[in-house]
Amino acid sequence: MESPYEHSYPSPELAAAHPFVEYAFDRYADDEMLERALAFREESERRRSIRLFSPDPVPRELIEQAVMAASTAPSGAHKQPWTFVGVRDPEVKAAIRAAAEEEERVNYLENRMNEEWLEALAPLGTDHHKEFLEVAPWIVVLFEQRFEQRPDGSTRKNYYVKESTGIAAGMFITALHRMGLATLTHTPSPMVFLRRLLGRPDNERPFVMFPIGFPLEGTRVPDLRRKQLDEVFVEVDRLA
Ligand SMILES: Cc1cc2nc3c(=O)[nH]c(=O)nc-3n(C[C@H](O)[C@H](O)[C@H](O)COP(=O)(O)O)c2cc1C
Repeated sequence: MESPYEHSYPSPELAAAHPFVEYAFDRYADDEMLERALAFREESERRRSIRLFSPDPVPRELIEQAVMAASTAPSGAHKQPWTFVGVRDPEVKAAIRAAAEEEERVNYLENRMNEEWLEALAPLGTDHHKEFLEVAPWIVVLFEQRFEQRPDGSTRKNYYVKESTGIAAGMFITALHRMGLATLTHTPSPMVFLRRLLGRPDNERPFVMFPIGFPLEGTRVPDLRRKQLDEVFVEVDRLA
């Protein structure tokens, strides 16, 4: 087929200066695409955030596989500006729980959250108790790397750090769900204590934390309604 492009990518100069490989892309038949789309959508619909974890252990290899899947996320200038810090040591988990509960106690009980925020959270019934941080077999804290710290001490800028780390977070959650684990996207605010407790370097900032494991048998979740297609998707078919 004749190329619809006037400008090739990579250009001959670019290909001479940097390595390129052919993209091994699988193109499916139309009906297979729809089947795959429906299957993934249905599996995604079944994901829920849970707040009561079972203490059943989870092998480290599963966590590692989820991290590697998440690390395939696109990132600004391919900087992959994230670090996943895994914790299963009971003493470290207990310290995280204590610090998170202290921050959340101020949030919930000493009015660090405004009325509107509290009203939005009411159906979820969240409060300052975070026992699950000790019961869940793993906590993975995702740190964003505000800049790159090189081994020689020099630094380099990272680009679109929050967007990139957010995409990696979404892929991490999806990978866990797909392998049969459950998690909670947890953001005890402020989260800076995690950098200190986990001994992370200055260029890293806690982004979100994920207690991970299996749901406690019979655990219940808020009966939430998700937005319908027409609430989250519009097609623009003419110039505004
Ligand atoms: C960025 C972010 C932060 C969140 N922080 C918390 C949190 O600190 N505590 C909590 O219980 N849930 C938290 N959640 C979970 C949401 O409440 C949950 O995703 C939402 O109610 C929808 O439920 P679902 O995940 O089961 O679909 C957070 C979710 C996101 C995406």
